[in-house]
Amino acid sequence: MTITVTSLAERFGAEISGVDLTNLSTETFDAVRGAFEAHGVIVFRGQPMDDDQQVLFSERFGPLEKTVSVNPAVGTPFARQSNIDIATGEAMNPDDKRIFYQKGNMLWHADSTFKEVPSLCSVLTAREVPATGGDTQFASTRAVYEALDPSIQARLDGCVVEHDFTWSRAQSGFEFNKAQRAENPPARHPLVQTNPVTGRKSLMIGAHAKCIIGWDEEESRAMLDDLLNRAIAPNEIYVHKWQTGDAIVWDNRATLHRATPFDVTKHRRLMQRTTVSNPAAIDEYAGYPEISQAG
Ligand SMILES: [Fe+2]
Repeated sequence: MTITVTSLAERFGAEISGVDLTNLSTETFDAVRGAFEAHGVIVFRGQPMDDDQQVLFSERFGPLEKTVSVNPAVGTPFARQSNIDIATGEAMNPDDKRIFYQKGNMLWHADSTFKEVPSLCSVLTAREVPATGGDTQFASTRAVYEALDPSIQARLDGCVVEHDFTWSRAQSGFEFNKAQRAENPPARHPLVQTNPVTGRKSLMIGAHAKCIIGWDEEESRAMLDDLLNRAIAPNEIYVHKWQTGDAIVWDNRATLHRATPFDVTKHRRLMQRTTVSNPAAIDEYAGYPEISQAG
């Protein structure tokens, strides 16, 4: 097999063919990893895999996160994105709070930016897909950074951003209880992220980004909203229409994504996500006193 990498959008994203994700040699994985670092979103078609195979593939990128308690797959490495009840296998009622909770996934975000140890990437596999809707849209925060005026880049370099899961879910009308709030305290990260392999810079923004530390509240909100709006401009995004057996790996340091709606009363959708942690990022944080002060 010959590995082929084809660009999907002008400034990020690639489809990779000629690989079997359940049986990757070291050499082929290195090529996949290289494409991931270069393109931010890598798409594979026709790669059906079970949970064990997904875990093995995902672990090639790094250690996996455990899923937090608000997801039905709590305690496993999977974050389940589905309208199918994990216990019964039947479609859930549309007013089920688990469906309501997933509406947060329809806001532009990167996964786990609200955690103290951020995520390197997520792996999402399509197990059951609706006939229409339920797409995933992607945007590049690297393209945004690289297109900014140098004076704005200089203003953002060195800034620290606070991400808060309780706050972002409240924006979509989902109030965490006391235990959920305690489990998800805010986390601080460098606003400008530097890819250690390519040296290219990106922005850690999206729905969980509450404020830039030390900035006036209004100014901070305006800047975060402006950066997000640049990233998600319609001609800048890639829209993935899922087929069963698709797998996508996205870089949570350099891209944003969101789900689009589908008719939960008519269709079944089951996507399994594994999330790769990035403990090495913490080393970079030593140069940011505002982060260590957050405790
Ligand atoms: Fe997500």
